[in-house]
Amino acid sequence: MTQTINLTIDGVAITVVEGTSVAAALARSPLPAARLSVSGQLRPPFCGMGVCQECRITIDGKRRLACQTPCRAGMRVERDAKFRSDQHD
Ligand code: FES
Repeated sequence: MTQTINLTIDGVAITVVEGTSVAAALARSPLPAARLSVSGQLRPPFCGMGVCQECRITIDGKRRLACQTPCRAGMRVERDAKFRSDQHD
């Protein structure tokens, strides 16, 4: 039987299958980007293997690579404040 866990991305609850990476959880969210570029473009995870650094994101208060981090129950994933404010203007 497949086990699911709950976490939050920018405060919004999401349910994923246990073992899912944070990058994959981001891909299931309405805005699948991890951060913004310096020019304000959405930057989603790219390589999926810890090389490109495009998936840097805050997980439980620490900067991590989303593609190298498995989801855990109760995990808090947060994009940069600039990202969140730009999406809600
Ligand atoms: S997607 Fe490239 S380092 Fe995570």
